[in-house]
This record gives sequence, structure tokens and C-alpha cells, in this order.
Amino acid sequence: MSEPSAPFRAPVGTHDVLEPASAIWEGVVATFAERAYRYGFTLAITPIFEDLGVFVRGIGEQSEMFRNEMYVFSDRADRRYALRPEGTAPVVRAFVQHHPTTPWKCWYFAPSFRYERPQKGRYRQHYQLGVEVLGTDDPAVDVEVIALLHGFYREIGLSRVRLLINSMGHAACRAHYVELLSIYLEEHQAELRDEHRELWRQNPLRLLDCKDPACAEVTSGAPMLIDHLCDECRSHFDQVLAGLGAIGIKSVLSPRLVRGFDYYNRTTFEFAADALEGAQNAIGGGGRYDRLAEELGGPATSGIGFGAGVERILLAREAEGVETALLKRTLDVFVVDTTGDESVAALVEALRDAGYATDRAYDRRSMKAQMKLAGRSGARVALLVGPDELDAGEVTVRDLCASDFATAQQRVTRADVLSAIERLWAR
Ligand code: HAM
Repeated sequence: MSEPSAPFRAPVGTHDVLEPASAIWEGVVATFAERAYRYGFTLAITPIFEDLGVFVRGIGEQSEMFRNEMYVFSDRADRRYALRPEGTAPVVRAFVQHHPTTPWKCWYFAPSFRYERPQKGRYRQHYQLGVEVLGTDDPAVDVEVIALLHGFYREIGLSRVRLLINSMGHAACRAHYVELLSIYLEEHQAELRDEHRELWRQNPLRLLDCKDPACAEVTSGAPMLIDHLCDECRSHFDQVLAGLGAIGIKSVLSPRLVRGFDYYNRTTFEFAADALEGAQNAIGGGGRYDRLAEELGGPATSGIGFGAGVERILLAREAEGVETALLKRTLDVFVVDTTGDESVAALVEALRDAGYATDRAYDRRSMKAQMKLAGRSGARVALLVGPDELDAGEVTVRDLCASDFATAQQRVTRADVLSAIERLWAR
């Protein structure tokens, strides 16, 4: 006989989300969905894996993510696929494929996969809540998208959140700026961290984001892109800042905010949760991307969006001590039945159809055991059906929250059960 094998565990860097955490997840997602609908967004669901090319062109072969973090695989027909590492490229691929009328405003809730070194707030599978708007470069949309996320954080109880904002300009502003930055870095390369002394040429912009004190010291004196924007990009950015100011959203200008994907231009932003540790305190980020649709074979189309990590949002809520529940997820009714009669199953079904969250015991357990389950279930009402009630065609309705035992319990006919429960609710 073979040895019993050790029980399996979820893969490294992934998590099961079970009750009670799952109820908070559900509340966070429902709050986001509600808010997105209020801003005119509709849900988009795209596959969990895409043609590898979507990400090669979407996020750039040179990006750190593409080189080190992608889950790439071939299927049986030797097609090359990748698990989605982020949500924007798939949504833009879907936009190009289905050409919905613009502006197209969609929201999503989807897992992303990145082969990173797992630590608190950094996982190999994480979930993002996000939105994308395609088909307009109106700065009012940048403001609206940021306002949606800003309001969402407030709605779920977070208060220690800062909005960092920057503009990456468009391709021409950036090319000119990269030349200036490269001249500066050439002069200072001896002071850079060892690995960056050689590597900075591959992507000079990313160096601005490096948290190493030596690199930060060098780049503190570097020219900043925000001071070298063309007139159009400057004006776009000024309108975004003015729009945010007009609706009372505070932002911190962050000239070093260079986000990790090649597709960004113009407005880029991140929300930092001050209650979390620095390296993993980004609870959401996004920006404009105006070439992605073309890269994926569609017409030139402006886009903007963000992704917000659910796990980090939950960590931030915990760190801030937010306890407010977002959704009511408790039972209304628990049916205690010692008869096993089929009519009781019909009663349970009728209660559920009428909108009451209803549960029952299984396995013909004793009255005492079932009452214990009813008490533990958190239900407001227990419905008791014993042989007596069954013979009389009645049900005992017990208010599990009542302090006065005399009024806690009444017998009603089967036909009156729903109205008896309604009367209890109205108390
Ligand atoms: P991102 O900044 O890479 O942007 O990810 C968005 C958010 O996902 C982060 O702010 C963070 O909250 C969360 N996140 C990222 N990686 C991890 C991880 N390994 N573990 C846990 N949480 C993580 C994007 O993905 C862009 N697609 C956002 C966007 C949409 N830009 C425009 N449209």
C-alpha cells in the first residue's frame, strides 16, 4: 500500500480567501461595482490567459515584468500564452476585437499573476479592481477616473491615503527628456548602485523610481520630466490638476513617479496607504496610455484607467483598524426540523424564494443539537417543526433576539409563516 501523501497546500504566493475574510472581499467588490455603475461603467470580463503577443506588445519586452515575472506556457497545439499579469492589455485587446462605441467605459475584477518574491502585500496571484476608458483624451476623464478610485477608498473606510500624481508627457516629450536624463546619469554613473552603473541605459526612467539610497541621492539632482513637457502635455496636466482641485481632491505632485509599464503617457498616478509599509503601500495606480490600441492592431485610441489591489486594500483597512462591515451577510432564518418531512424542505425553499437567507440542519440531528446550530448561526428567527407542529399543520416561530421568553415564541399556521416573520422584522 502506498504511504498517504501529505495534504496539498495552495501554491507559494497565493491565498485561499474564506469566511470571514471572504465577506469583506465581497463587500469591497460590491462597493466598487456600485460605484463604477454610478460613474457610467459596465463590467468587462476577459480570459485569464491571452496570446503572449498581447503582453509582448502591451507591456513591452523591455519591462522588468515581461522579463522576469510572466507566467508563460504553451498549450497542446504549441500556441504561446501567458497568464494575465495585469488588466489593461487584455481589455484593450477586447476593445480592438469588438470595437464598442466610444467612449467605452468598463470596470473589472480579475486576478493577475506575477512571479514575484512573495512577501506581505506582494503575491504571485493578486486581484485587481480596475477601470479603463477608451476613446477620449479629455482631461475631465482623467479627473473622473481618479475621483472614482478616491471616493471608493473613502467609501470602504480608508482615510490615510495619499494621491501621488505625475505626467509622463507624450512620446516626443519623453524622448527629449530621456536624452537630458541620460547626459546627467552619464556624468554621475560612478555614484550609482553597482548593478545600475551598467543597467541604467536600458531604461533610464526606471532609475528615478529606485528606492536604493545611492540611486535616490543621484537622481535627486536630475532633471525632471514634469519640467520638460511640451505645451500640449503641460496644458493637459494643468487641466487635470485644476479639475481635481475643483472637486476637492488633494494630490501630491510626484515627479519621480514612473510606473512599471511601457504603455503609459501623460497622466500617471498612484494611491499610497500610509498605514502600510513603504515598499508595498501602493493600493492602486494607473494612468493614460495612448498607443496601446494601435500596438494591438486597432485604430489609434486614447485610454486611461487604473488597477487597485484588493489584498493590499484589505491590509490597509486592517492597519487603519477599519471595522465597518460593508455588506450584511448573516442568516435571517434557521429551520429546526425533527420530523424529516418533505413539506419542511418546501417551507425552506419558500422562505428562500421570498428573499430570506435561510439555512437548516442535515442528518436528522436531535432537537437540542439543531437548536445549538440555530443559536450559532446568527439567524434572527428559528422556525421549529416537531411531530406536534407537523400534525397540526403549524410552525413555532421563535425570535432568537428576544430577551422576554414569554413573547419570544408563537405558533402559527404554515400559511401565516411569512407574515409572522415580516411582523418580527417590523418590530
Ligand atoms: P500596477 O501598479 O502594476 O498597475 O498594479 C495595480 C495595483 O495592483 C497595485 O497598485 C497594487 O495595489 C496591486 N498589485 C500589483 N502587484 C501586486 C502583487 N504582486 N501582489 C499584490 N498586489 C499587487 C497595473 O497593473 C495597471 N494595469 C493599472 C492600470 C490600469 N493602468 C492603466 N489602467
